[in-house]
Amino acid sequence: AIDISKLRDQTGYITLDTGFKNTGATTSSITFLDGEQGILKYRGYPIEELAEKSTFIEVAYLLIYGELPTPDQIKDFQYQISRHTLIHEDMKKFFDAFPHNAHPMGQLCSLVSSLSAFSPESLNPSPSKSDTNLAVIKLLAKMPTIVSWIYKGSLGEPFIYPLNKMDYISNFVHMTFGRVTEEVEIDPVVVDALDKLLILHADHEQNCSTSTVRIVGSSGSNLYASISAGISALWGPLHGGANQAVIEMLELIRNDGGDTEKWINKAKDKDDNFRLMGFGHRVYKNFDPRAKIIKKACDNVLEKLGINDPVLEIAKKLEDAALHDPYFVERKLYPNVDFYSGIIYRALGFPTEMFTVLFALGRLPGWIAQWLELRDQKEPIGRPRQVYTGETDRVYVPISERK
Ligand code: ACO
Repeated sequence: AIDISKLRDQTGYITLDTGFKNTGATTSSITFLDGEQGILKYRGYPIEELAEKSTFIEVAYLLIYGELPTPDQIKDFQYQISRHTLIHEDMKKFFDAFPHNAHPMGQLCSLVSSLSAFSPESLNPSPSKSDTNLAVIKLLAKMPTIVSWIYKGSLGEPFIYPLNKMDYISNFVHMTFGRVTEEVEIDPVVVDALDKLLILHADHEQNCSTSTVRIVGSSGSNLYASISAGISALWGPLHGGANQAVIEMLELIRNDGGDTEKWINKAKDKDDNFRLMGFGHRVYKNFDPRAKIIKKACDNVLEKLGINDPVLEIAKKLEDAALHDPYFVERKLYPNVDFYSGIIYRALGFPTEMFTVLFALGRLPGWIAQWLELRDQKEPIGRPRQVYTGETDRVYVPISERK
């Protein structure tokens, strides 16, 4: 057994908080979150108001530069982005090299990391303000192209080049659903829904992927490398990967006969690893304000697009049953942002494997803002401690004498 007092003599006092449940790692002026009250604000603006009145690109500007843009500022921002939407022709070879069925998240983190190879100025550990801003603009500009080309690659279809006269989201829709053989009309319902979803995902203070971006950035790593690490963190099913896992779960329940009670019991069974995906949140213990907006948007989008998705019924039944079940009530487990987002993405025409990539596209301005803040605040390198519980003072036995 470990003698903790002895360890204390060796290492001093260490606060042990696995999962960082109560440990603040930084100060930040980007996003405010009150988990008890279900409040989320970007730079002081309530998420409900931004989702209703703003656009994703405007919210990106707000998160990154701290203020809502004036008409001239947003015009200039969009112009700067439009100059960098193309990706280097040599990068196309990377898309070709991935197997068609490679997971889009694996491709995305590799491709984002590779951007530093095409932007050597980003490798300067003490970049000028304009070089940093250039890296920010390039990343915002190239991300939709990368995401839509990953999608096209998965279908084996030719890549569609950006059309810079289009706004950010319409251009993304054009590259994703466009065809080289014909002009495809951009449906405003699709653009509106994506605008809303990406706004709701744009930042969420020190979550797992954002903390990853900050900790990687704290070692002086460049923007592309830091955000690539954040994308890897987002991939996990306990974080952004939950949106894919939710749809897979709903399909599973549907194919199993739609008995939601059975699956709720499974989620409650401590000998079973199954969890109700899209339920629960580390910080929200009352409700997730994003989930409220998304649930409404989901009904709205499906109605406008004339889609009747049978898994929506299962989702609603599951939510209703869980909200009245003491197990979920006592543990304050409510639907989170990922519970209904997948149903909307599916209605817009995205395959399940693309869902987490869309989350990454939305979270990008938040990651960028957090990386910039870390640099501005000159934060020290992130380096948590541990409480050692392994063997102490062992005698080395040569390999010839080991049994
Ligand atoms: N289904 C069933 N039980 C659950 C669930 C769930 N979805 N979530 C939590 N619990 C239970 C746990 O088993 C635990 O029970 P216990 O006290 O009897 O041991 C209790 O609720 C607390 O759960 P923790 O895992 O300790 O909570 P934590 O804050 O560490 O985890 C998390 C939060 C990861 C979101 C968790 O609720 C979960 O796994 N949810 C499903 C995955 C998901 O939807 N992730 C997306 C999160 S949102 C986002 O990243 C964008």
